[in-house]
Amino acid sequence: MTQISAAITAVGGFVPEYRLTNAILETMVDTNDEWIRTRTGVEERRILKEPGKGSSDMAVPAIQEILKKKNMAATEIDCIICATVTPDMVFPATANVIGDKLGATNAFGFDVGAACSGFLYALTTGAAFIESGRYKNVVVVGVDKMSSIIDYTDRATCIIFGDGAGAVLLQTNEEGLGIRDSILKSDGQGRHYLHMKAGGSVRPATVETVMAKEHFVYQEGQAVFKFAVKGMADVSAELLERNGLTADDIAWLVPHQANLRIIDATANRMGLPKEKVMINIQKYGNTTAATLPLCIWDWQDQLKKGDNIVLAAFGGGFTWGATWIKWAI
Ligand code: UT7
Repeated sequence: MTQISAAITAVGGFVPEYRLTNAILETMVDTNDEWIRTRTGVEERRILKEPGKGSSDMAVPAIQEILKKKNMAATEIDCIICATVTPDMVFPATANVIGDKLGATNAFGFDVGAACSGFLYALTTGAAFIESGRYKNVVVVGVDKMSSIIDYTDRATCIIFGDGAGAVLLQTNEEGLGIRDSILKSDGQGRHYLHMKAGGSVRPATVETVMAKEHFVYQEGQAVFKFAVKGMADVSAELLERNGLTADDIAWLVPHQANLRIIDATANRMGLPKEKVMINIQKYGNTTAATLPLCIWDWQDQLKKGDNIVLAAFGGGFTWGATWIKWAI
């Protein structure tokens, strides 16, 4: 019997129009373009400004792009998995809202909360649904409206993050292409360095939590940086080793776009030249769960059938991981 694998057969993306440039941030906080570029690599980020719009409003156009490309009806989607840390609301799941807005009446859906590694966790989960033979069309979307949880008076965080959505369609493949292997990791000790203090069941929202700015991202940047450099590089190297792959076999590295210095360290550790690394942090910043699919979206025309691609991420939790894909389209 032929083994079924799960392959990405279409990609969609969405970024809001408004560009928050380094020059504009210079007027908001005590920072400067030079510092931001050299310490992070970010030049501008997209921000979803319209009142009343949330993560689902970015995920929907990203998925609609896929449906259009595949000439598919929303009713053909079996499952929607949404990776996000900025759901439209605490419940129901944003995947349900997305399904409703799309008219995906035959799909079940749920959210995955693994911060910047969310897309990898969701992709691996979606692939397992396909590999089981139970489902045919699984949509995985990574989306975050980080501007909804960023304190724009905090120069340490507001310069990094942006808003956006990227989605992929997973379908069956019988040629041995698609998602080949994944290593996912987490360590709850890392929660102390990167989190949101209030708004959950431990510290529900009160006037005090709002006044204390506890509904914004809290990050100990230097500590996260150290763990991220090691975690992302180690797991990527482990993935190559266990699959007998060398740098020469890899066509593309798709790294989480948190900081250009972390991306460079991961590429160096894997022995990959810069030409093989997807980098779009300069134009979108860190869009959390959306960085990986937005890279694939930006580079889709350059990908060739059979290309070996490694996706790698590190984020809040801590969560981290790497996935090997043999490009199928
Ligand atoms: O995606 C999820 C995972 N997150 C990450 O991977 C993020 C990892 N961390 C980072 O990317 C970096 O730690 C940051 C970009 C957040 C910060 O860069 P850093 O090189 O670690 O800076 P730092 O926090 O060590 O600060 C160095 C200096 C400090 O000044 P002093 O104390 O040396 O005088 C900061 O106050 O830079 C100052 N600084 C700034 N200066 C200008 C911090 N933020 C800014 C700023 N503009 N925006």
